[in-house]
Amino acid sequence: MSKSTTVFFCNSCGNEFAKWSGQCPTCHEWNTLVEATPFLKTPRGGAKKISTKSVESFSVKDALTSQEGYTLSTGISEFDRVLGPGITRGGVYLLAGQPGIGKSTLLTQLAISVPNDVYYVCSEENPAQVATRIKRLSKKETPHIHLLNTSLVDSVCETIAKNPNSLIIIDSIQSVYTNQNVTTPGSPSQIRDSASLLIQTAKEHSTPLIIVGHVTKDGNIAGPKMLEHMVDTVLELNGDRQHLLRLLRTIKNRFGPTDETGIFQMTGSGLEEVKDPGAILLEGRIKNAPGSCLTMIMEGTRPLTVEIQALVVSSPLPIPRRIAKGISTNRLQLICAILTKHLHLPIGEKDVFVNVTGGLDIKDPGADLGIALAIISSAKDTPLPENSICFGELGLLGEIRKVGFSDKMLKEAKSLGYDKIFSPGTHKTIRAISFSKKKRID
Ligand code: TYD
Ligand code: MG
Repeated sequence: MSKSTTVFFCNSCGNEFAKWSGQCPTCHEWNTLVEATPFLKTPRGGAKKISTKSVESFSVKDALTSQEGYTLSTGISEFDRVLGPGITRGGVYLLAGQPGIGKSTLLTQLAISVPNDVYYVCSEENPAQVATRIKRLSKKETPHIHLLNTSLVDSVCETIAKNPNSLIIIDSIQSVYTNQNVTTPGSPSQIRDSASLLIQTAKEHSTPLIIVGHVTKDGNIAGPKMLEHMVDTVLELNGDRQHLLRLLRTIKNRFGPTDETGIFQMTGSGLEEVKDPGAILLEGRIKNAPGSCLTMIMEGTRPLTVEIQALVVSSPLPIPRRIAKGISTNRLQLICAILTKHLHLPIGEKDVFVNVTGGLDIKDPGADLGIALAIISSAKDTPLPENSICFGELGLLGEIRKVGFSDKMLKEAKSLGYDKIFSPGTHKTIRAISFSKKKRID
């Protein structure tokens, strides 16, 4: 039976299919499937040569010895914290993030601070642009950084083979190409083939490799899903471009933890590590304002104080709006439903807006109680008690559920001087929480 010689890639979600269809079966976008060559197609007219050379084998002990003593510190403690041990020999890292969030800035700083030779593939910007950034961010000379003015992966692979003890940075995978694939840079099959060649060469020569990846408008990493499987570690740089904070998280990590978060702020001299993010997040906060609630969330293994703001106003629309920034709209709708059912809160004809200050995106369910209290506070036009903070997940029955690291958050809240704490330990249900009407402070 003859094998199919083409596959189809979705330009939106990057999934691969054997057949074409008008609508992507996975992401349901229309007209996004494009034809692509199968994985690293062999040259026309010749069957692929099968190597008969036996491969080298290692004992477990030898394999471990070859790794010993090699963990390259990034020189940026927040970065090392996220990676776990630092950069490992032959480790392949994918750094993804929205355009303009600071990926190139972070990698430039990394290139400046590592002791090894660094080969920076300038495929997106030209070497002069990268050099200007290096000059701006580095106080000293950087003879160990070599800028490669190429987008051709095959040439980069030669450089890797000649300099196995260096660190290779590809900025970005969407702008490089290999001669083995005829499609344009950025196409799913080109990304797949280029990444595959780079990873194969890096692994063969035990050279660490960092690849920058773009994200699509819905936040997924652009290109085939396979890319995430091919690399050892997937890092994500998050944040709101209008705000200063940037969070570096691991989605996948073969060498270390996935629950650590590196916290940075964007400054005129690059990304700076932030030791006290609470101070930035709460800057300019109006105390005792109705609709404002301080909440403790976990960012990795660190408790973080954030402010959740809600605004509940009469709606001119037949179907009132539920608009959220920093939390998902589905979660906001769910919390509104819980409050309507269990507190009979009259928000059925009101628009509800919720915002997490500082541009943070919260996925921690422990923020549920904070969202609920901010909405109640705005709906009743009553501020929450002074010096209060909360955390806890809301169940559909109105119960306040325990969240991970509760003890750590409680300890942190007390050490920060909050004397009124709403948590699963103090209140069992949302009905049990009451706060009296105080004079509002404008
Ligand atoms: P960049 O690293 O180029 O983003 P990405 O590679 O993710 O697309 O960073 C872009 C933004 O960062 C740009 O708007 C300028 C800002 N920036 C600073 O504020 N300070 C700096 O020192 C640098 C280098 C960039
Ligand atoms: Mg960039």
